[in-house]
Amino acid sequence: MSGLKILALIWFVIVLSSKKYILYHKSLIMKKVAALFIAVATFVVACTPKASPSATEALIPAESRVKTDKTTIDAGQVISSTSCTKCHREKDYSRATYDELRPVLASMVKKAKLDEKEIQQISAYVHSKAKK
Ligand code: HEC
Repeated sequence: MSGLKILALIWFVIVLSSKKYILYHKSLIMKKVAALFIAVATFVVACTPKASPSATEALIPAESRVKTDKTTIDAGQVISSTSCTKCHREKDYSRATYDELRPVLASMVKKAKLDEKEIQQISAYVHSKAKK
């Protein structure tokens, strides 16, 4: 089972049990606790940066196929400082190898809604900066 499915299941169980709880003890506190649980579970799902291995393979070029020409890398740098900074500051890609970053990238390019060409470019840039 993927992490996302497990989280969805946990979320479902929490929603069910919290509804029952509210029925038994119609207290405001329990409602608040339930709401907090749901908020935390939703946050965990939304902020999990890893994508499944198959999604990574399909989206992000393998190290052997990633582009290394300057034009593509430069275009990737622009994406990194614009599209990739909507939610957080530019990350330090040199803290991990390209292979370690690929699953993260797979999830981030979806968040940033990049098209195929932009994915090639950001991958080339991250590859050029990643730990060797
Ligand atoms: C819609 C919001 C959003 C966009 C757009 C986005 N990210 Fe992220 N990114 C996150 C969140 C949330 C995290 C996890 C929390 C954190 O590390 O800040 C994250 C984490 C990361 C991490 C660190 C992951 C780790 O395991 O430490 C990297 C690297 C990263 N993003 C790269 C990118 C790149 C490259 C792009 C552009 C293609 C991008 N992000 C666009 C939301 C976004």
